[in-house]
Amino acid sequence: RFSATPRGPEDAILGITLAYNADQSPHKVNLGVGAYRDDAGLPFVLTPVRIAEKRLAQDEHHMEYLPVIGNRTFCDKAVALAYGQHSGLDMGCVARMQTLSGTGALRMAGELMTRFLSVRNGQAPVVLLPRPSWANHAAIFRDAGCRVGGYRYYDEDTKGLDFEGCLRDLEEAEEGSVVLLHACAHNPTGVDFGESEWGRVSEVVREKGMVALFDMAYQGFTSGDLDVDAEGVRRFVREGHRVILAQSFSKNFGLYGQRVGCLSVVGDSVEEKEAVESQLKIIARPMYSNPPIVGVRLVEEILKDEKLEIMWREEMKGMAERIQGMRKMLREGLEGVGSRLDWGHVEKQNGMFCYSGLTAQQVDRLRREFSVYLTANGRISMAGVTTGNVGYLADAMHRVTK
Ligand code: LMR
Repeated sequence: RFSATPRGPEDAILGITLAYNADQSPHKVNLGVGAYRDDAGLPFVLTPVRIAEKRLAQDEHHMEYLPVIGNRTFCDKAVALAYGQHSGLDMGCVARMQTLSGTGALRMAGELMTRFLSVRNGQAPVVLLPRPSWANHAAIFRDAGCRVGGYRYYDEDTKGLDFEGCLRDLEEAEEGSVVLLHACAHNPTGVDFGESEWGRVSEVVREKGMVALFDMAYQGFTSGDLDVDAEGVRRFVREGHRVILAQSFSKNFGLYGQRVGCLSVVGDSVEEKEAVESQLKIIARPMYSNPPIVGVRLVEEILKDEKLEIMWREEMKGMAERIQGMRKMLREGLEGVGSRLDWGHVEKQNGMFCYSGLTAQQVDRLRREFSVYLTANGRISMAGVTTGNVGYLADAMHRVTK
């Protein structure tokens, strides 16, 4: 019955891991997926997560269903981490839901927007993505029934922000558009808005009657400080925006496969919050019924124990610092092997990724000749770079770019 089904391509990011796994080279390096590795190149489980896991096992917790909306205590902790303790927000007006990590939160947001965001001419809402954006964004919103558009963001020449282009595109956007903003550690470019840019974007979003939808998948990875990294979101909230926020705890808690995330929607009243939550439940029930129980319990356990929380914040900072150290070593390594190109952006960009500027052809050579795997757009997951492989990587990058 499915004989006419065309075979589809592998995912642009997760497909890289499949190719890497199949490679027999002892030198192989996976810089595809954004998943943190320690300096030995191994997956890293944070100490407070291990402690929380043991506590949970001792409790012999049950395996019952969570409510469709998820674990309330976890959601309360999650939104407090994002908006801060002193946001001035009336938390009674903030709808929140446990989601299947950041992807699930974005998809739920998309489904909610398609159904209930007041749109013009009966058309679906348009979601504007920065160019470029995370490879999965467009598919998430398209599949949720939204229209997908874009705004200029990255300047290939300066390897920095194209802020003028960004403002112009936002100013010319359809009134009422939804603007997707990466809260920090922009994926894939590592280029973030600074304070004054956030201020200007906030003004334009207000002037155009647009909705700000934040994707915060890397809170902590730009500065090492979770509060500093939430400043864009918090500023929007202070300035009166009714933001929609997708949070992932995959990276900052290292809980990738546990699928821990939260969607929150800031509203004007308790009635609005309750109505939104009621609809989120109606959307989730036929999709996956209710969310998983373990990952959120680990986060809850850590965030309700001051000592564990401090330990977590420290280890989170340590991850950000190790990545920053690798940026410096990679840049120095490239200079050390004699590259005459300017690699300053490797060190300047933020978060887990370096948008290297390597072409698809160079990326292909890296893979075929050196077993170095990265996404075709030249994005390097810096989290996979270690003191052990940085020299090999610098040499390989130099060879394909000279
Ligand atoms: C990435 O961009 O590599 C991560 O967000 C993982 C993913 O799901 O794509």
